[in-house]
Amino acid sequence: MLRLNGIETRYGKIVALRNMSLEVREGEIVALLGMNGAGKSTTLKTISGLLRPKAGTIEFMGQPVDQLSPEEIVRRGIIHVPEGRKIFPGLTVKENLILGATSRKISMTQVKQELQEILDIFPELIPLLDQLGWSLSGGQQQMCAIGRGLMAKPKLLMLDEPSLGLAPLIVQNMFHTIQKINRNGTTVLLVEQNARQSLAIAHRGYVAEAGKIVASDEASNLLNGIHHAYLGAAK
Ligand SMILES: Nc1ncnc2c1ncn2[C@@H]1O[C@H](COP(=O)(O)OP(=O)(O)OP(=O)(O)O)[C@@H](O)[C@H]1O
Ligand SMILES: [Mg+2]
Repeated sequence: MLRLNGIETRYGKIVALRNMSLEVREGEIVALLGMNGAGKSTTLKTISGLLRPKAGTIEFMGQPVDQLSPEEIVRRGIIHVPEGRKIFPGLTVKENLILGATSRKISMTQVKQELQEILDIFPELIPLLDQLGWSLSGGQQQMCAIGRGLMAKPKLLMLDEPSLGLAPLIVQNMFHTIQKINRNGTTVLLVEQNARQSLAIAHRGYVAEAGKIVASDEASNLLNGIHHAYLGAAK
């Protein structure tokens, strides 16, 4: 579905991605793991067209997309929920959610129906629909941001650190919801520092370091590797 081949992305002279290659197949949850500064967010920004790669190719559904505008990439079905839950603080939860559907030409009746589908996934948002974005907790903002992304009916949903800064119980709930979204038919590229919990729901995983992939495998194998690394460190 999505294939990055030899991507190089820079911020001015700083090379953030060097030879980044990875693949996401339809129906999968793919985890992209790595330490701070490894290039995870830059990878998502490059895929969504916010940054232009200096080298390499990106293909989505068999078509090159690395020269398209961010708007066109959204129209092709790639939605990026950025780091730090960027919702509109001065808009209500409902308005934030509905904004997610603006890239598509659909009737208000259909918007309302789809809003209901999102609320089935995030029932916690129902009592908050008329509250302003700024008044929400971190977890509620994250649900609102992901819900808004889903309103665009993405083929591929890219989530940047959805668990960051959330309380442990809410984190668990968040991963469970991502799995549910995937089972409903959305392919997911999940960027996380929380390796254990993301690998527990992912099909496959990649580990990035200094702007390139240093390991990739079935999620269960990577998870075993982490267990071994921890056991080794404990000796
Ligand atoms: N706006 C920017 N200007 C200059 N350099 C940047 C910018 N954003 C990121 N970088 C650099 O690019 C590299 C990759 O950063 P990126 O944000 O992709 O990492 P990350 O894996 O998402 O890290 P984190 O886990 O901290 O979010 C880092 O070396 C970082 O310092
Ligand atoms: Mg990041």
